[in-house]
Amino acid sequence: MTRRIRKAVFPVAGLGTRFLPATKSIPKEMLTVVDRPVLQHVVDEAREAGIEHFIFVTGRNKAVIEDHFDIAYELEETLQKRGKLKEWQALKEDLPAAGATSFTRQQVPLGLGHAVWCARDIVGDEPFAVLLPDMVTMAAGQGRCLAQCVAAYEKHGGNIIAVEEVLADETHQYGVVSIGKDFGHTFEITGMVEKPPKGTALSNLIISGRYVLGPEIFAILEKGEKGAGGEIQLTDGMKALAKSQSFHGVRFDGKTYDCGAKLGFLAANIAFALTDPALAPLLRTELKKLTGEP
Ligand code: UTP
Repeated sequence: MTRRIRKAVFPVAGLGTRFLPATKSIPKEMLTVVDRPVLQHVVDEAREAGIEHFIFVTGRNKAVIEDHFDIAYELEETLQKRGKLKEWQALKEDLPAAGATSFTRQQVPLGLGHAVWCARDIVGDEPFAVLLPDMVTMAAGQGRCLAQCVAAYEKHGGNIIAVEEVLADETHQYGVVSIGKDFGHTFEITGMVEKPPKGTALSNLIISGRYVLGPEIFAILEKGEKGAGGEIQLTDGMKALAKSQSFHGVRFDGKTYDCGAKLGFLAANIAFALTDPALAPLLRTELKKLTGEP
């Protein structure tokens, strides 16, 4: 029997070293893809998938994230006084309901598995979603990635991991899964490895940052076993859970941008700007000028 997925965990306690110096005082999750912080795009995706409670695992220097998901009283009053009602309305629509957010601190960035474990008391004893804010997704048809994961959970139960195909020489940077019984859009996962050494990957399907997990993962992560890079890895925890529970992969049919890396971040900005009818024609002209295309 499946349960409704109501809560989502957003691990936002990483240091963002790949974006220094930008991330010296600004959390990387607050860098913008066009005019929305990366994290807002990911929260939008979670809301579309039916998530009702948003749990942020933060760290030092991340207080601005809490402010972003709160009412900005003075700004909103000024917008109303100036008749900028469209902008005011848009801010209100983005805001999760009162009491629908929780913030906890990881204290020391010991790894993604540890960050997820920090949310254990807030999640409680129910299946939940995890969204890596680094990964920003764009729908190609049937909703964004987490909505597809929730649909897969309703079909298969157990645990769900979104995956994406990459080139064989890129797999060593990611968690990689192996494929069992294949249903096309979804498939059984028979193995997982975090950052496999070059040439040893189980497949070219990488774990792309959206998960639906059973609460039993917390007891495994509690052990604090260290894996690749000396970090407490979520992939290792899931691998242990896979001994007693099913895991299915979802081949997301849209596009995922790795906004934790410069290239992915720049590509996301261009891709999202090209979906904006006011920006797209002008941006196309600028891009042609830059690339020297006729
Ligand atoms: P990354 O390793 O990509 O994030 O972790 P990072 O450490 O912030 O980035 P770089 O490599 O130094 O540039 C993936 C996600 O897991 C979170 C990060 O915030 C990011 O969203 N994370 C990672 C934590 O919350 N805590 C950790 O201990 C590690």
